[in-house]
Amino acid sequence: MKIAIGADHAGYELKTQLKSWLEAQVDSLKDLGTDSEESVDYPDFAHAVAGEVEKGNFDLGILICGSGLGVDMTANKHAGIRSALCWNKEIGKLAKSHNNANVVCLPGRFISVETAKEILDTFFKTTFEGGRHNRRIDKISC
Ligand code: RB5
Repeated sequence: MKIAIGADHAGYELKTQLKSWLEAQVDSLKDLGTDSEESVDYPDFAHAVAGEVEKGNFDLGILICGSGLGVDMTANKHAGIRSALCWNKEIGKLAKSHNNANVVCLPGRFISVETAKEILDTFFKTTFEGGRHNRRIDKISC
């Protein structure tokens, strides 16, 4: 699995804490920034990650901001993106099994690194159920 990851200043710490663990889980990990805790605008990083996933250059995007909301809203503006804000492993499982999300957003100011790893590990190990969920995700775009 090829993953692109991005964060704003509020997600930088969690992104940094996750990187070596993620590198051991996946085939490749591309970090699209930000690279410090200096204040930045979350859409710049969310568009970068979502755009790369939308173009097919990566299988999954991971985005982190303070609440997870801003990056999630931004990623979901991309027609080819199904972005899911996940704050526990149960939501992470549903994001894959029911929604076949291709971007996972994490709230860096509200979850621990252990919870973030649980969410991502569950997401990676879950398969999309298809069937009725295919019909539903086909109705999302407008
Ligand atoms: C940054 O202060 C914060 O607004 C941002 O990380 C995010 O939570 C926005 O949705």
